[in-house]
Amino acid sequence: MKNIAILCSGGDVSGMNPALKHFVEYSIQKELNPFFIYDGYEGLIDNKIKKVSYCDVSGIITRGGTKIGSSRSKRFMQKKHRQTAKDNLDALDINMLIVLGGDGSFRGLDIFYREHGVRFCGVPSTIDNDIFATEYCLGVDTALNIIKTSIDALRDTASSFKRAFVVETMGRDCGYLALVSHLTSGSELCLIPELDYDLSLHEEEFKKQIKNGRRYFIAIVSEGIKQDSQEIANWFERKIGIEARVSVLGHIQRGGNPSIYDRLMAYKFITHAIDRLLEKKTNSIVCYTKKGFVYKSIDEVVSGKKALDKNLLGYLKNQ
Ligand code: F6P
Repeated sequence: MKNIAILCSGGDVSGMNPALKHFVEYSIQKELNPFFIYDGYEGLIDNKIKKVSYCDVSGIITRGGTKIGSSRSKRFMQKKHRQTAKDNLDALDINMLIVLGGDGSFRGLDIFYREHGVRFCGVPSTIDNDIFATEYCLGVDTALNIIKTSIDALRDTASSFKRAFVVETMGRDCGYLALVSHLTSGSELCLIPELDYDLSLHEEEFKKQIKNGRRYFIAIVSEGIKQDSQEIANWFERKIGIEARVSVLGHIQRGGNPSIYDRLMAYKFITHAIDRLLEKKTNSIVCYTKKGFVYKSIDEVVSGKKALDKNLLGYLKNQ
């Protein structure tokens, strides 16, 4: 039997646990020995590697986060620690590796692969949905649903009080979560890093709307924009004349019960990853594109900056 391992790297997402469950089950079905590497590349360096079976994944499909932990490892950027990581894999005769993570994690993996040739497959996993070459990253749907529930709740209090709420979403320098949340929650304003904006252009219209009876505003702003969310709230108070509050959703967006879509995508991503490794192929990232699932090399995946869907951006520009 061959040995295969999995680790999670970077920000956790809801969907990692369903992916771990299917990893164990599908590996066993394919007559492989599954291993967990705990705490990401940190655990790989520290030899936190354990052979696992069905009982290690029972009941985890409903839980967000990752049962095996994750990390953003600085040590893995150093050659000597990558050598230790390789020695740890060799000692357990593990020659296939699956990494759930974002493109930062894949860059580390690329260096590891070039130095040591460990056969790997990556599964894009980040709520930011900012990985070039894949339309979808594991965890995005659950994050969007959490944002939806939060904004729906904020709307209740915004409307009761005549207030503006500035809701800050995550995404680093990618506005995908904010943009989709805006289009699906009926908010009045959306600010994302990809588009320059001028708040003064909204002043006349927003004031007119208040005169005509509007009681509240919801503005969705992505964390990577040029201004602090509090400055946007101050603008509502000073220029529009409405009391304003900021609500930073923060890490709440990363957790929670994985959605059906993320459970299904976890299943499909992992199936493709294991199949690829069994074909003896390496240096692949499983990408979900308009053509369905395809494999791309790390070079391809990290070679560009993900642009927001032009159609979605078009809806925003037309508002
Ligand atoms: O990459 C996922 C993400 O949640 C980003 O949206 C956010 O900017 C960052 O991670 C937060 O990182 P940390 O969990 O280290 O605070």
